[in-house]
Amino acid sequence: MQRPEVLQNILGPRRERWLVTGAAGFIGSHLAGALLALGQTVRGLDNLSTGTLANLEAVRLQAAQDGVGRFDFIKGDIRDPGVCRDAMSGISVVLHQAALPSVPVSLKAPLECHAANVTGFCNILEAARLAGVRRIVHASSSAVYGDAASLPKVETMPVAPRSPYGLAKSVNEQYASLYRECFGLETVSLRYFNIYGPRQNPAGDYAAVIPLWFAALVRGQSPVIYGDGGSSRDFCHVDDVVAANVLAGLAAHASGVYNIGSGKATTLVELFAAVRQAAASVSPALETVTPRHQPSRAGDIRHSLADITRARQELGFVPTIALQQGLLAMADALGIRQDRPRA
Ligand SMILES: NC(=O)c1ccc[n+]([C@@H]2O[C@H](COP(=O)([O-])OP(=O)(O)OC[C@H]3O[C@@H](n4cnc5c(N)ncnc54)[C@H](O)[C@@H]3O)[C@@H](O)[C@H]2O)c1
Repeated sequence: MQRPEVLQNILGPRRERWLVTGAAGFIGSHLAGALLALGQTVRGLDNLSTGTLANLEAVRLQAAQDGVGRFDFIKGDIRDPGVCRDAMSGISVVLHQAALPSVPVSLKAPLECHAANVTGFCNILEAARLAGVRRIVHASSSAVYGDAASLPKVETMPVAPRSPYGLAKSVNEQYASLYRECFGLETVSLRYFNIYGPRQNPAGDYAAVIPLWFAALVRGQSPVIYGDGGSSRDFCHVDDVVAANVLAGLAAHASGVYNIGSGKATTLVELFAAVRQAAASVSPALETVTPRHQPSRAGDIRHSLADITRARQELGFVPTIALQQGLLAMADALGIRQDRPRA
């Protein structure tokens, strides 16, 4: 699924020293692995709170194949300013992914969210400034838009976060802008929409819908749709997000906020059909699986869709992986079995 030639074209002969925070997480591990495969030097930083040793092992395997001596990892916490300072030494570009990454968890534990997602972010910014880092690209979120009705979401719309998580991401963007204006640190905020792909954690009640549904199918259970299935999301493959980050790290005039999504809306009913089709291509018996419906959950946003014009025009970002293609690759990798009993 990786498109090394596309990323290689973006990079050309450039060699940077990248810090990837959250490198043991879903998106961070893909970023670190892709950069190593492209001949870059990468440092990972993660406290392994939601990230896994298995993800880190995947990065280390990549380093052993393509990047001997070009990868080091710091197990540490971004809430500690000293850890952030140590991690910045010699770094030219930061791709900041580390965060408590969940809206529902932030509603249960707002102070924990603030500590990791606001204070931790400020620690990273300040350490980057002191170390003379050239650019920091950070993972923001479509959660900053809240539940305003107008679609698609454009960067110029007012933000209206409805959770500590969304508020933290919005505050991050403001701090990033302030550090650009006050200190000349180049900062880019990428508002990710619904990112999916291999290694996304299916565990827990609040896992993202695609890994959750595949995990249910692997267990022989029917996936759950909360609500009537008419809610829609913008699903973007993690390989496209890797490309967006590399572009944002290197594009000469990249600055400010960019939506990163596919630019296409998919309802949950349509997603279910697509996931089932992908699963059935590996395991034909799954063709007849039906979803279970449960009441919608508090705080769920009805519709979400990115306008990616700005990212296309200023970064050259073009999503290349169609949803069905990405889902097929996931089903293949999971090797969904057809001999499991159905719940
Ligand atoms: N996955 C999505 O659909 C999505 C959408 C919008 C925004 N984002 C953002 O993208 C980033 C990456 O998300 P992900 O889906 O890969 O989640 P993830 O949980 O897989 O990755 C987050 C990583 O950050 C690490 N981390 C958390 N707190 C830390 C701390 N205090 N110190 C050091 N490391 C810490 C975790 O251990 C984990 O490895 C997050 O900032 C998230 O908010 C993700």
